[in-house]
Amino acid sequence: MIAFSAMTPTGFSLADTELFCDGVSVAAIADAVGTPVYVNSAAQLRARFLALDRAFDDYPHSLHYALKANSLLGVVRIIKALGGAVDANSIWEIEVARRIGFAPREIVFTGVGKSGDELAQAVPLGLKAINVESAGELGRIEAIATALGVPARVAVRVNPDIDAKSHPHISTGLKINKFGVPVGEARDLFATLARRPSLQLVAIHVHIGSQITTLEPLRNAARFIAAMGRELKQAGLPLEYLDVGGGLGISYDGTPAIAAEDYVSAIVDEVRATGLPVVIEPGRAIVGPAATLVARVIDIKPRNALSEFVVIDAGMTELLRPALYGAFHRIEPVRPRGGAKKDYEIVGPVCESSDVVGRDRTLAPLEVGDLLAIRDAGAYGSAMASNYNRRPLPPEVIVDGGEWRVARRRQTVDDMLALES
Ligand code: LLP
Repeated sequence: MIAFSAMTPTGFSLADTELFCDGVSVAAIADAVGTPVYVNSAAQLRARFLALDRAFDDYPHSLHYALKANSLLGVVRIIKALGGAVDANSIWEIEVARRIGFAPREIVFTGVGKSGDELAQAVPLGLKAINVESAGELGRIEAIATALGVPARVAVRVNPDIDAKSHPHISTGLKINKFGVPVGEARDLFATLARRPSLQLVAIHVHIGSQITTLEPLRNAARFIAAMGRELKQAGLPLEYLDVGGGLGISYDGTPAIAAEDYVSAIVDEVRATGLPVVIEPGRAIVGPAATLVARVIDIKPRNALSEFVVIDAGMTELLRPALYGAFHRIEPVRPRGGAKKDYEIVGPVCESSDVVGRDRTLAPLEVGDLLAIRDAGAYGSAMASNYNRRPLPPEVIVDGGEWRVARRRQTVDDMLALES
């Protein structure tokens, strides 16, 4: 075991002439495991979780990590060891959480479309809450709970009509979005609860979007939910807690992002008067910067008079975000070569013109065989990977305490075909 000193930098840093993850050479990992490969920094992950957790100080809270960002067992086990809880978006994420050892009361179940089967399995578990998205869903949960003879713990997800000012594909808090129950309708629903003994309203929930980079919408959502909590208390429906969802953005371009302390103090400022514990559901803010996708240059060819195409062995199948949202991820050579920088279009190997990983980048000169680091890929990277073009899901490596291990091996063609006859 290599000693992990306090001096070892955590996360990804370009020391001397190459990129390191928690003090381990990223190139050495790529050479051993092959590319493309996701490399996760356990130290970064812990630091980011703890920054959020500690920012609450003594205000009662729980961090329900949003599994959808990355539910790799090795990653979620680290969250669990830190005392985290989870937010699951499907019965299958619940199953993963349970296999890791989360108790039902450490799981909230969100999701705009929970099937009848999913609800039938989830209700008897006694989760911390099922975050309900509609009057119809509430009725379906009630029917299952009535049949079981055990009240279901529910939270109503209210759509506050707040603009998260994020990318339209990942903004969820506006009236036009499919998420949650409009405020007026939610009030009508609450009024029915007194005569519905199979439903126990434990919380209200908002989640206005993801990759939110200004504090105001997050603060407004917290203010909204605190006001609603007070209103419910006056109406004789006291809650156990307030769930303000996830959404805290990270920096993808290296400019400063909202600090964990500022985010948490905005929330706590708004909810403190209610005295109610707060649940947050952060995904990206914990895992986003904690992983890098490492790819190898497989071809370079002319693009125009000023730049070249650099074809790498990772694309929209490994990291969909650039193709789907036009998302920007920093890309840097793992071992930068000397010489004048050049202009490149970094593209993936998939048969789609949208398969561009980095548009118009200026980088140290590249050659076929060089390694590139695609940064801040820990959230919604591996989790959204696909087998398009029959490309295998990439392996995931976790670097921890100066050592690394393969937390998920590379998928094989046999793995892929095992499901087919
Ligand atoms: N809670 C709920 C109910 C959610 O729907 C989400 C994310 C989260 C929490 C976690 O949000 P976060 O803290 O990670 O922002 N694939 C997109 C992001 C989709 C987010 C979906 N919901 C992307 O790559 O940017």
